[in-house]
Amino acid sequence: MSKVLVIGGSGFLGSHVSDVLTNKGHEVYIFDLVKSKYLLPNQKMIIGDILNKDLIDQSIEKVDYVYHFAAIADIKEAKDNPIKSARFNIIGTLNILDACVKYKIKRIIFSSSIYVYSNHGSFYRSTKQSCELFIENYFEEYKLEYTILRYGSLYGTRANNFNFINNVIKQALLNKEIIRKGDGQETRDYINVIDAAISSVDVLSEDYINKYVMITGNQTRKVNELLEMINEMMNNEIKITYDSKNYDGHYQLTPYSFRPKVALKMISKNHHDLGQGILDCIYENYQTLKKEGQSILYNKIKKNG
Ligand SMILES: NC(=O)c1ccc[n+]([C@@H]2O[C@H](COP(=O)([O-])OP(=O)(O)OC[C@H]3O[C@@H](n4cnc5c(N)ncnc54)[C@H](O)[C@@H]3O)[C@@H](O)[C@H]2O)c1
Repeated sequence: MSKVLVIGGSGFLGSHVSDVLTNKGHEVYIFDLVKSKYLLPNQKMIIGDILNKDLIDQSIEKVDYVYHFAAIADIKEAKDNPIKSARFNIIGTLNILDACVKYKIKRIIFSSSIYVYSNHGSFYRSTKQSCELFIENYFEEYKLEYTILRYGSLYGTRANNFNFINNVIKQALLNKEIIRKGDGQETRDYINVIDAAISSVDVLSEDYINKYVMITGNQTRKVNELLEMINEMMNNEIKITYDSKNYDGHYQLTPYSFRPKVALKMISKNHHDLGQGILDCIYENYQTLKKEGQSILYNKIKKNG
C-alpha cells in the first residue's frame, strides 16, 4: 500500500476520496487550510496553504502519490476574483507540481472539471485549463506522471454551500421555497460524490497513467424534475420559482462547446528587407556588447585574419 497526500482533503470531494483511500489500506495524509471534520483516527492532518511552498515541499517529501483538490471551486467566487483564483488555482498548483518533481512522486492526480470544454465557467474554467496545460508540460519536461480527472455535477453528503443540490435543499428547509436561477429546463448528469470518490481512487491503476478521465453521472435529469423530486419528498410543501433572467455562467444542456479559434492572418502592407533587418540586429548587438566591454570574437578573428 502507498503513502498518499490528499491536498484539499478537508473539502467535499477530498474528504470522501480520503475515506476511500484509507479503507483500501493506504496511508493518508490530508493537507488543507482547515482541519477536516471527517478525519479518521488513522489519517494524518497537515494544516497549511498550498501557497506556502516550504510546507508543500515538506508534506510531499513524505509520500508516493498526490491528489490535488485544493482550489477556489465556486464558479461565482472565481468569476468575481480572477487574480485570487489565479494565485490559488494556478500558482498553488505549480508549487505542488514543483515539489512532486523534486521528490520524485509517482503520480499527481488533479481535479479538473468538465467546464474545460465549455464556453461557460469564466475564470474558473481558465484556471482549470491552465493547470491541465502545466501538468502536461511538467510531464514533457520532467516526466512527472499524472491523471487528470474532469468531474461533472456532484452531489452528496458533506457538500459545500455553493453545491447546487445542497443549496436548494437548504433553501427548502429554511424557507419552504426554492429560487432557481434558470428556467429549469437545463439538464445535468448528477453523480453521487461517493461513486465519484471510488472512481477517483480506481484511477491509481496503471491504466490511467497520463490519461484524462471524465467522472460524470449516467442519469440525465432536467433541473425542474430534480426540484420536483425534492418537493415531493418534502410533502409538496415547497414553492419553486424560476428566475431565468439572472441565469449566468452555467450551461443549459451540455457543457461542451465547439470553439474553433482560427486566428486572422494579417498581411502587413509594409515590407522590411530581411537582409537589411538582420544587419540592423547585428549592428545593435555589436554596439551593446561593445558598450558592455565584452570581448567580441568576431572582430578579433577579422583582425588576425
Ligand atoms: N464539487 C464539484 O461538483 C466539482 C466538480 C468539478 C471539479 N471539482 C473540483 O474538485 C476540487 C474539490 O472540489 P470540492 O467541491 O470538494 O470543493 P471544496 O471547496 O469543498 O474543497 C476544497 C478544499 O480545498 C481547501 N483549500 C482551498 N484553498 C486552499 C489553499 N490555498 N491551501 C490549502 N487548502 C485549500 C479548502 O479548505 C477545501 O477544504 C476542486 O478543485 C474543484 O474545482 C469539483
